[in-house]
Amino acid sequence: MFTTGEKPAEQIANKDFDLAVYLKEKQQIVEDALEKSLPIAEPQKIFHAMRYSLLAGGKRLRPILCLASCELIGGNLEIALPTACALEMIHTMSLIHDDLPAMDNDDYRRGKLTNHKVYGENIAILAGDGLLSFAFEHVGVETKNVPAQRVLEVITRLGRTVGATGLVGGQVLDLESEGESDITVESLTAIHTRKTGALLETSVLSGAILAGASSEDINRLSVYSQNIGLAFQIVDDILDITATKEELGKTAGKDLQAEKATYPKLLGIEASKQQAQQMIDKAIDQLSVYGQKAQALRAIAYYVVDRKN
Ligand code: FPP
Ligand code: MG
Repeated sequence: MFTTGEKPAEQIANKDFDLAVYLKEKQQIVEDALEKSLPIAEPQKIFHAMRYSLLAGGKRLRPILCLASCELIGGNLEIALPTACALEMIHTMSLIHDDLPAMDNDDYRRGKLTNHKVYGENIAILAGDGLLSFAFEHVGVETKNVPAQRVLEVITRLGRTVGATGLVGGQVLDLESEGESDITVESLTAIHTRKTGALLETSVLSGAILAGASSEDINRLSVYSQNIGLAFQIVDDILDITATKEELGKTAGKDLQAEKATYPKLLGIEASKQQAQQMIDKAIDQLSVYGQKAQALRAIAYYVVDRKN
């Protein structure tokens, strides 16, 4: 699943760190926790629909970022695991709704038929709603051995991230931009900051907050995550053009078809790649004070631009 491509120089210098092994190990921890988080109850249909998308695989990048930043600040995995799962529940619900006929009308996601194609539109909407509310319940009920104030801050940030100032607002701007010919790089960046960047930033910050990060840590990790969030989306836009349906696990070439504004459309593929690389360099700059402790976050930043899906 994780293809790291050619390893950049700094990653090779971290000889004792193998990103592929790290990602696989963390991915397994997240898969096991997600599987246990949501047992089937009544009415069974909605639980099956929620589990269908939640357990459909995927990179699990958001939970892994949360776990990595928690460890960076000195926390153990257990304190961040419920939040890591909640981040994946929120991400999954946003994709279920994004794929609906009223939004992007997609048939495939993570190599499988989309939720509404299997369960129907009505159940898919409710599966998204169910996952969204369960994410908050899960953080509140399952987070142990963390001061309540930190848990409250994480819940507040999650709320802000999914709401109209975050994902919901970003999706509205994205829908409005379809077919528009006068989109600038600035307005595209504003869309992506909300639609993709906000949840990636909250993924990194929530792990750090649970572990007791200082305001200096939060500032550094904000800059890190905002830059990898935008770079992630630029690479997403490029892959929509260059990768196959099999590599992506979803329909390729959708952006052009829907006349969406994308970085490659505005800047060309090469300039977009350069822009993404510059953002990764900025992100990595923020980690220098942490030395070897930040090797996972550093390697994940390289992976964001090197990934093939
Ligand atoms: C995928 O983008 C979609 C998103 C990153 C988020 C979409 C957000 C919503 C539908 C709002 C959801 C509601 C709440 C309450 C969070 P894309 O279409 O560019 O990428 P794709 O090719 O993977 O579909
Ligand atoms: Mg979409």
